[in-house]
Amino acid sequence: MAIRFEEIKPAVGSRVVWDDRADIFTPEAAQLLRAKLAERTVLVFPKLDLTDDEQIKITDLMGGKVKLTGQFNKQDTDENVYQVTLDPEINPQPEYVLGTYFYHMDGMPVDFPPPFATLLSARKTAPKGGQTEFASTLAGYAGLPEAERAELDCLKVIHSVEASMVPLRGLIPAEQYEKVIGIQREIERPLVFTHADGHKSMLLGTTADRVVGMSIPEGRALLVRLLEWCCQPAYSLRHEWQEGDLVIWENTAGLHRAMPYDPASGRMMHRTSIAGAETVA
Ligand SMILES: [Fe+2]
Repeated sequence: MAIRFEEIKPAVGSRVVWDDRADIFTPEAAQLLRAKLAERTVLVFPKLDLTDDEQIKITDLMGGKVKLTGQFNKQDTDENVYQVTLDPEINPQPEYVLGTYFYHMDGMPVDFPPPFATLLSARKTAPKGGQTEFASTLAGYAGLPEAERAELDCLKVIHSVEASMVPLRGLIPAEQYEKVIGIQREIERPLVFTHADGHKSMLLGTTADRVVGMSIPEGRALLVRLLEWCCQPAYSLRHEWQEGDLVIWENTAGLHRAMPYDPASGRMMHRTSIAGAETVA
């Protein structure tokens, strides 16, 4: 196999190295990448310069694409390639993108299995800001004392879009806010997600609102403390984008957020999502 991996940090992140670019677009490579994601949470492909068709091909090979948001975008790409941008010509509802300034996991408050992984390729970077930061809840969970892990294993958390909009309160007009959150329901997820192969990660982020069976302050304090734990330097990393980079991360193990950037910078990322096969309930 002509794909190799270099560790970015001991507990999180690998850089993918290849001799022949074509070796990335094979079923064998897709299997290897899936296995590596489960171990490392974040995979960086420097300057891969993907076309949309190639990005969809990798997404399909790695498990099949799933469409998340994007219904509001006036984009000119394939409907499965979501253009992440603050450009009002393309994205008339930038609050969805502004929400990504805060640590979250994609698709958590939606009533289907959350995506297994997200692929993001940089088409245009911002001159300042716009990096993406990742915090591994796989590494964070593994780093907790055993007794604490056992206590967390049985907890359940309520996720909602409304909770994820809290950091944007005051920005979005009340009428629009109601429209955005009014159509959504609350979804109960386990705090600790045991994947089919046995590895465990925590489902956290802005959508996580409260812990079932705990008082609201006690539950939220726990959620904040666990998130802060996963953000420590040993379990997290920041990716400085070069145009052409592809990053794939395991969505149910990798909290992610964008560093703020100028909406006029033209920053453009193309996102696809790999369907989650596992029911998280
Ligand atoms: Fe996201």
